Amino acid sequence: MGEPVEWMDDGSPRSRRFDDRYRSSAGGLAQATTVFLAGCGLPHRWRGHERFTVLETGFGLGLNFLTTWAAWAADAERSGCLHFVSVEAYPVSVPDILRSAQMAAPPSGSDAGLMRRVQALAQELAQVWRDLAPGLHVFHFAQGRVQLTLAVGQAQRMLQSLDCRADAVYLDGFSPARNPDMWSLQTLQGVSLHCRAGTTLATYTVARSVRTRLEGLGFRVEKCAGLAPKRDCLKAVFLPQA
Ligand SMILES: C[S@@+](CC[C@H](N)C(=O)[O-])C[C@H]1O[C@@H](n2cnc3c(N)ncnc32)[C@H](O)[C@@H]1O
Repeated sequence: MGEPVEWMDDGSPRSRRFDDRYRSSAGGLAQATTVFLAGCGLPHRWRGHERFTVLETGFGLGLNFLTTWAAWAADAERSGCLHFVSVEAYPVSVPDILRSAQMAAPPSGSDAGLMRRVQALAQELAQVWRDLAPGLHVFHFAQGRVQLTLAVGQAQRMLQSLDCRADAVYLDGFSPARNPDMWSLQTLQGVSLHCRAGTTLATYTVARSVRTRLEGLGFRVEKCAGLAPKRDCLKAVFLPQA
């Protein structure tokens, strides 16, 4: 039995535990592509890499993972392998993952092709998904070229135990006001442990506390155009002082 997801009248998923939406009211697919992929410079940045690793805080309904995988699969110049590492304390169940992929964009949206690919990949994820006990779970797809590592447990603790070198980071907890643990200095420090010079980072929030913590950890942070109704979102590059 997974974490319960509440489905609202407009088709968007919500968490009762955190009293917040799992994704932008503008749609999960649009958020994944414009805030997270574009914010991290993808697909461009994975070109020329043998292996490209994305680290995410908050796997949720897996839509960022599925969209990243779909974009990677559609890119003729993709990296040899895609490794997606995500931390999640409250894994959801298969029916919610599938429903999320069905409801990821308005039916008349311009992303129909991407949406179909995401839905097909959601079926593949559903086939291997099970009740996930705390700890690390590794799944392989695309003849081993796509690896998903799910670290099930509290982000702060799981980040300390992960062995990963991230090329890109998606920060996707619920809003800092409702989910402060995901944006605490300790959690962000845990993320920075896995970054190296040039690692890109993206998130939908521009909360000052988050920007200040990221800057203090060595990220160069920049506001950029957000997905309506939000005016801004955040992108950053890890450039620690030598
Ligand atoms: C906004 S949702 C993530 C949406 C997801 N990235 C997607 O593509 O569907 C935030 C996620 O963070 C998880 N979360 C909240 N607090 C956490 C914590 N302290 N440690 C780990 N995961 C946490 C929630 O359970 C939720 O699934």
